[in-house]
Amino acid sequence: MTDVVLHEQGNSRKTATLYFQLAEDLAQAIANGTLQPGEKLPSIRRLSAQRQVSLSTVMEAYRELEDRGLIEARPQSGFYVRAARGFAVPDLTQPPQKPSEVVVDPLLAPAELARLHDLKVDFGLAILSPKLYPNQQLQRILAQVTRHDPDILSDYGNPIGDLELRRQIARRSLIWGGQIDAEEIIVTNGAIEALNLCLRAVTQPGDVVAIESPAYFGLLQILESFQLKALEIPTHPQTGISIEALELATRNGEVKACVLLPNFSNPLGSLMPDENKRRLVELLDTRGVPLIEDDIYGEFYNHGERPRPAKAFDKTGNVMLLASFTKMVAPSFRVGWVVAGRWHRELEQLKFINTFSTPVPLQRAIARFLENGGYDHHLRRLRKACAEQVNAAVSAIQRYFPGDTRLHVHVPQGGYVLWVELSARVDTLELLQRALAEGISFTPGPLFSPSNSYRNCLRICCVEPWTIRHERAIQRLGELAGDF
Ligand SMILES: Cc1ncc(COP(=O)(O)O)c(C=O)c1O
Repeated sequence: MTDVVLHEQGNSRKTATLYFQLAEDLAQAIANGTLQPGEKLPSIRRLSAQRQVSLSTVMEAYRELEDRGLIEARPQSGFYVRAARGFAVPDLTQPPQKPSEVVVDPLLAPAELARLHDLKVDFGLAILSPKLYPNQQLQRILAQVTRHDPDILSDYGNPIGDLELRRQIARRSLIWGGQIDAEEIIVTNGAIEALNLCLRAVTQPGDVVAIESPAYFGLLQILESFQLKALEIPTHPQTGISIEALELATRNGEVKACVLLPNFSNPLGSLMPDENKRRLVELLDTRGVPLIEDDIYGEFYNHGERPRPAKAFDKTGNVMLLASFTKMVAPSFRVGWVVAGRWHRELEQLKFINTFSTPVPLQRAIARFLENGGYDHHLRRLRKACAEQVNAAVSAIQRYFPGDTRLHVHVPQGGYVLWVELSARVDTLELLQRALAEGISFTPGPLFSPSNSYRNCLRICCVEPWTIRHERAIQRLGELAGDF
């Protein structure tokens, strides 16, 4: 007796059969980590009894999974989830040693790709799924805030920000040993505004700014808009920029500022060890080069304690620390902040003329969320979800990408982006066009470099709970990469 046809939807009979349904369930369990690489699958007899399907149904399901490369048969032993291949880790990057003019192709920006294409799976946008945010809690808090104090809606607000929020930010800095006073904090419209203000305060058009390589393309867009040149510093995928290279690069006095993400950089995900952070802060202080530290991913750590920002080692006010609640709490609120050290007064002025203030009800709602304890619980869940998503993506990449792929991490330290280096044959700009034609998006490497390096690299953002849809998209990307 052949399998019962479950539903007659779609044009493929295959998708409607019991064996296929069983294969899908198992593939989903592998994708979300319920079944781990190397784990033995139930025997055919046992699964047939458990699922109340015929032996041939289970056999066909296992064959389907073998064809997809998800499981393997071991003689006399049974079926196992295929162990992920351990890809090599890329080396320290080797960007050009000269400053580059910055020109970013706006059509490659993830938001633009998402707007122009009908995407089935978007690995480009670094915005987490709405499912991962405390939307209902925030909605209740926002309603309470405006009910108790309706005048807040007509309040222009203090340009440096709501005191309740600044107090909460100052209180939380104690976790990493920061002794920040609420008066030192300026609330901004997201980290983007903070980056803009910091660069405006310390640079003039034509100046050179040292950045990690590869670097966040949003930063490159800001450098371009201010007509600043970028000097890419060699960066290690696990430990961040090379302090030795920065030491050399800052010798001739040409570098006027340095912008870095020591904690879980975007796109590399690197985490600079504390000792390097200390050396970095001392070096830049000695050289009189301000450090603009973007700590937007600092809370997304997978193990141990929250990593300290480089600001923790700053004794002279030479470090401008900025972060934002957009990734952690509410992307739409656009609430960020900056502690500008020596440049506090300049930033206060710049904030005033740039956007005057940040909407007060939104700041107050975040302050209450931080105060009432919901924040820590939410962060724990968010970190766990991101780690699961990244781990699933790493396993899928190891399963489906060509054998000469290099992956910057095997056990991700934090954040939710992955940097993948393909064979030098692959052109990720071309790969992107082929992937977009199939409704899959990612961010190609050249977008992260003013010198257009990293043509064979790509960034994958793991922003949604992992499903078979994501697994298939990674499989397809791996196949397309293998065609070069
Ligand atoms: C490294 C980095 N800095 C800043 C931003 C912008 O942050 P916000 O949305 O708070 O303006 C992003 C957003 O993706 C980012 O990845």
